[in-house]
Amino acid sequence: MVTAGPTREYLDPVRFITNESSGKMGYAIAGTLYRHGVDVIMISGPVSIKPPIPAEKIIHVVSAEEMLEACSQYFKIVDAVIFTAAVADYRPASWSGQKIKKTAQVQRLEFVKNPDIAYEFGKLKKEDQISVGFALETDDIIDNAAKKLEKKNFDAIVINSPNKEEGFGYDTNRIAIMRKDRTLKNFPLKPKKDIALDILKELETLWTHNILQPGSDPFPLEAGPGCHGDK
Ligand code: C5P
Repeated sequence: MVTAGPTREYLDPVRFITNESSGKMGYAIAGTLYRHGVDVIMISGPVSIKPPIPAEKIIHVVSAEEMLEACSQYFKIVDAVIFTAAVADYRPASWSGQKIKKTAQVQRLEFVKNPDIAYEFGKLKKEDQISVGFALETDDIIDNAAKKLEKKNFDAIVINSPNKEEGFGYDTNRIAIMRKDRTLKNFPLKPKKDIALDILKELETLWTHNILQPGSDPFPLEAGPGCHGDK
């Protein structure tokens, strides 16, 4: 299972809180898995890129709560989860069924915490299941990533940053992968579809299953029908 994209937390029928996530990284990962014959399900927030996998393999959600609900159906049956989604940490405390009117007073917004999907899975995770998370960090990168790795019971965490050409919205990314034993592997700036393959190769080393069989890719990555969003 792969989570991808942002979530939207609505205030009223036309206004919402969200973030910069384009979904490109998660879609590249799901597309790469699919092309390698893996039975993949993607839980996707609202994005405007083309799906790299058949429609029936994607569950579209809007909010963090919807994403958790969709993911929960698969928690028990999946072998591995890659948490790529940029889930909103908070949502507005209340929702107005009608468009909020402009008033003379300055408005104050109150927020409540959203569920942490990766953390919930981390609590339920069985011996033979693995999970990989993402950490977008601007400061104390190693420390913050290590804390997330531990708290969410990840087997590895992919670290990236919001720098130009990296992270949100770009077709390229620069990552480092931290394992449970805190060992760190750095990767150079690459197209997200190549990063996806690096992550899946890492996943395979954590796992007893062979995900990426040599020669099993029916579509060469460059010319493949998937990962349109990365182009
Ligand atoms: O937001 P944070 O930096 O804690 O996210 C780290 C990881 O946790 C990411 O892999 C993200 O997909 C996941 N996450 C989640 N549910 C949340 C927040 C984050 O699954 N509410």
